[in-house]
Amino acid sequence: MITQSGSLFVLSTSDSTYCFRIMETGQLEHIYYGKKITLADTADAFIEKHAFAQSNTIAYDSSANTFSLEDACLEFSAYGKGDIREPFIELVNSDGSRSSDFVFEKAEITQGKKPFKSLPGSYDEDDAVGHLCVTLKDKNYGHVIELHYFVYENCGVITRSARFINGDEKDVRLLRLMSTQLDYDSGEYVFTTFTGEWAREMNRTDTRLCAGKQVNASYTGTSSSRANPFVMLSKKETAESYGSCYGFNLIYSGNHYECAEVNGFGKTRFVSGINPQGFCFIIAPGEDFEAPEAIMTFSADGFNGMSQNMHAFIREHIVRGEWKHKERPILLNSWEAAYFDITESKLTALAKAGESVGIELFVMDDGWFGKRDNDKSSLGDWTPNRKKLPHGLGGVCKKINDLGLDFGIWVEPEMVNTDSNLYRDHPDWVLAIPGKPHAEGRNQRILDLTNPVVQDYIIEQMSAVFASANIRYVKWDMNRIFSDYYAPHLNADRQGETAHRYVIGLYHCLKTLTEQFPHILFEGCAAGGNRFDPGILCYFPQIWASDDTDAACRSTIQTGYSYGYPPSTFSAHVSASPNHQTLRITPLETRFNTACFAVCGYECNLCDMKKEDLATVKAQIALYKEWRAVFQFGSFYRGRSGNTTEWTAVSPDKKRAVGFIMHKLVSPNVQYEYYKAVGLDPEIIYNFYNRILKYDIRGFGDLINTITPIHIKQDSLTHNIIANFMKMDGETEDYHVYGDALMNCGIRLRQAYAGTGYNDQVRFFQDFASRIYFMEAEEN
Ligand code: DGJ
Repeated sequence: MITQSGSLFVLSTSDSTYCFRIMETGQLEHIYYGKKITLADTADAFIEKHAFAQSNTIAYDSSANTFSLEDACLEFSAYGKGDIREPFIELVNSDGSRSSDFVFEKAEITQGKKPFKSLPGSYDEDDAVGHLCVTLKDKNYGHVIELHYFVYENCGVITRSARFINGDEKDVRLLRLMSTQLDYDSGEYVFTTFTGEWAREMNRTDTRLCAGKQVNASYTGTSSSRANPFVMLSKKETAESYGSCYGFNLIYSGNHYECAEVNGFGKTRFVSGINPQGFCFIIAPGEDFEAPEAIMTFSADGFNGMSQNMHAFIREHIVRGEWKHKERPILLNSWEAAYFDITESKLTALAKAGESVGIELFVMDDGWFGKRDNDKSSLGDWTPNRKKLPHGLGGVCKKINDLGLDFGIWVEPEMVNTDSNLYRDHPDWVLAIPGKPHAEGRNQRILDLTNPVVQDYIIEQMSAVFASANIRYVKWDMNRIFSDYYAPHLNADRQGETAHRYVIGLYHCLKTLTEQFPHILFEGCAAGGNRFDPGILCYFPQIWASDDTDAACRSTIQTGYSYGYPPSTFSAHVSASPNHQTLRITPLETRFNTACFAVCGYECNLCDMKKEDLATVKAQIALYKEWRAVFQFGSFYRGRSGNTTEWTAVSPDKKRAVGFIMHKLVSPNVQYEYYKAVGLDPEIIYNFYNRILKYDIRGFGDLINTITPIHIKQDSLTHNIIANFMKMDGETEDYHVYGDALMNCGIRLRQAYAGTGYNDQVRFFQDFASRIYFMEAEEN
């Protein structure tokens, strides 16, 4: 709900309040954002009191010399009139001045949300979202700023965006326009970011704010694996289940910037928006510039509480289209099974093995087009390689369909290799400085998406590919980051527009193609998670979270994503062991247990898999299908993180839940372990049980000799034969307990092997072992 009474604006969600007022001088004073409170009609008690402008600060003007903007909490700020902190806007006027003085002009409260001109944004199917537009005007140059606020009451989210309109008679150079600004009256916050690199995405870093700035930003041209745009501000005592937590994200897929600054008066300013680095837009008189939409949420129930808000918002108001609520198929991807070495017969054999274990969708990854035998050539030439696919895309697709599987395909439309017909024909279609050497990445260049001709070409090429066979799924990849920012399509004085215009061009392609092919399930990918953000999720309902498929790493990576994104948005695959990225050996069950708390798939050579492992995979897939709705669309909660990972997924009616625990490294002589659920109904009695599994005796190595009458040499033929016939019984857990006990006391699990002693009720738990537990409401 949004209300205005006099100069006071109050925005309320189900559990939070956001409020600000128009100051006597026309600026907007931010008063409060946090746990829901009740405000009377005036905010006299809550506004900051000023009697004089302190020491050598700047008094705003002679009629208002009782305060300085430097020490005020503001909704919007600019350089020039005393506020020297991170500004919302920065521009150069036609006379060369960089001063801005925006003051309140008008405000309007409406309902519903219109789409942006060129950027994706949140939406509300019921048009119930409240909208506040506050217009500010620059006193000296006539420029206009619209501050837009959208209130999504049920998920506790408020979004903000801004529009700048040049009100002068000459061009201005816009150097920054943020999407949100939030001023806090204290410096006591922890800034949490999720940073990394290729195959190491989403590592949580907590930094106690102190005087100065903490910046989380990307300059890769994408939202980037280096610094995801999702960040949090919390109190130092905040934990998963208690304490104040603010979550922020940006509906944008390019260079972004989030900064938390504590100034000399101990106040914190948070801003988020397009990264100003290298950014400069020339705005003609009367023209405008839209900043992307920023997402903000607050929870008094810790990180998990904040995540619940973000998850609900992304599921309901970001992801759209036919796949929004539809369970996602279990796919088998050819990449780690065969890399570039694919042929129709190989793919069909792999798909056949997939079909035999319950796979629903087969995905042909990289290597199917042009002369693509490695990553040095052919990006841009989207015609099937006839040596590999003699019957074209239609032929291989039909063979897969005849097996009863859907067919999907990999593409990387934004890129071109210099060894390609496309590049030979159009060398001026790439982002590169003409005549100057270009710094390469994965032997490929980025197409100049600022150019509408190039956008049309991508749309035309991809439409032809997607329509050429019964394609049900597309993995849209993007494998390099930007270097030498330069768009040949733009004039020299417009090069500061390259990065943002690229993103706008990309969105145009994604919008056109996803509208043209609404049945296709699109999955975003950028060398794994190098472009994982709510902007991409407005077009693609899921994104490949990381090229790292190692289960131990994935437990950290997926925990990282889960702070800001629901499990239905990230995919995870069971792959080979030793793992291809880390060479780590992990149990097949752990690879599955980790992948199933996301959109689960397989990416390994099932044709070469042992019979016994195939049977395990078959059982896993059957189980995933049975619980898929809970894994993909249930409420996801984190328990412990670190050496032990603990997760819970709960169905919306709270009648079904799945728990997960995993240890990275095991300590000897520690028998004790517990599992605590989160998010259950405290009053329901649940049947808590595990999967009763059998384990390989080779896991005990030569300890087998402690129970055998004859000596058995480890790894000998005899050892292997015994292992084929004799399995170790796994433990049983089976309890009937109230939800409140499961959440607060937790289940004391069967004791682990602790360097001695083993029987069928001991938990066989070596390094990287894990368990999943099921909880089902008892019928009354
Ligand atoms: C990077 C992706 O993340 C991988 O999954 C795979 O599709 C390769 N690109 C193919 O080149």
